[in-house]
Amino acid sequence: MPPGNYADGGTRSSHIPVLCSETMAFLQLSDRSPEQVLSGGVYLDGTLGAGGHSEAILSHTNTQVIGLDLDPMALEIATDRLSTFGSRFRAIRGNFADLSTIELGNQTFDGILVDLGVSSMQLDQAEKGFSFLREGPLDMRMNPDQSLSAREIVNNAPAEEIAHILWTFGEERMSRKIAHRIADYRRQQPINTTIQLADLVTSVYPRSKFRRRNRRSTHISSLHPATRTFQALRIFVNDELENLKLLLESGYQRLRKPGGRFCIISFHSLEDRLVKHAFRRLASRCLCPPDIPSCICHHQPEIEILTKRPVTATTDEITKNPRARSAKLRAAIRI
Ligand SMILES: C[S@@+](CC[C@H](N)C(=O)[O-])C[C@H]1O[C@@H](n2cnc3c(N)ncnc32)[C@H](O)[C@@H]1O
Repeated sequence: MPPGNYADGGTRSSHIPVLCSETMAFLQLSDRSPEQVLSGGVYLDGTLGAGGHSEAILSHTNTQVIGLDLDPMALEIATDRLSTFGSRFRAIRGNFADLSTIELGNQTFDGILVDLGVSSMQLDQAEKGFSFLREGPLDMRMNPDQSLSAREIVNNAPAEEIAHILWTFGEERMSRKIAHRIADYRRQQPINTTIQLADLVTSVYPRSKFRRRNRRSTHISSLHPATRTFQALRIFVNDELENLKLLLESGYQRLRKPGGRFCIISFHSLEDRLVKHAFRRLASRCLCPPDIPSCICHHQPEIEILTKRPVTATTDEITKNPRARSAKLRAAIRI
């Protein structure tokens, strides 16, 4: 296949990296403050995707990047894109949750970046089954070698479990109704495709429920009724929150001590909450229960938080890249 073109019309450059200049600034690779630019650092991109963030890192002199991804398609695309950087870039198929055990020897990094969720290329590829707008198999696996897929859950899990998944990972208020509609439908025929599921979910929603009028303007914002269901199934299938928890527990140990920088970009409140609490815990000088009058744990902070509040995209970035709308960047430095 020629570079740049995919069977379904997706392009290699269809993914625009979010909060890229802000992330580079936290990694001390900002062109805006050249006096701070580090060169020659070694970075880990835990979610390589199309390689957009990695490319921005590699554009700085002598930097090196190790890029991880679960999805072999992402590794192929990014490797092709970043081939001009030669041996300064290395791609590894793996899960960022395994950072402490992955085959990297004693390697520590000047920066670790994780840009969570799915890429636009994954959404564009109908056969991956991530998009409720494209007809494709109900799959949603980032790692094609794992056995659990969305089809498996939707067709075989008890209705109560499906409702639980939709509520927990999608904060879907209609979770029970949707789960029961799914259970009724699958008694007649299996649910094999994205559009079958999207139509089923839509049929549960009264039209008025997903067309909200913005109070300050006459603009009608509409979230597709299947958005939360698809998000929930994707998070569950790929064990996304558990992976993030594991990364947050031990990933900092792979940062250069002191001074290595951790940047995490998340896209929904479930993820951002985990990052916020884990960073606070790692930065804390005391983890004693609040009813203990004076500290007995003498916890040693591992990081210092660089973002009091998460950094979000500018209106300009959101206009150019609507995916940036919900992005939140938190950064910390190893001490
Ligand atoms: C939002 S995209 C990253 C885009 C990338 N920053 C860029 O600029 O092109 C997220 C990528 O992370 C991968 N991914 C998600 N969870 C992962 C995990 N636990 N370990 C490794 N890769 C993961 C996905 O397969 C996807 O390719």
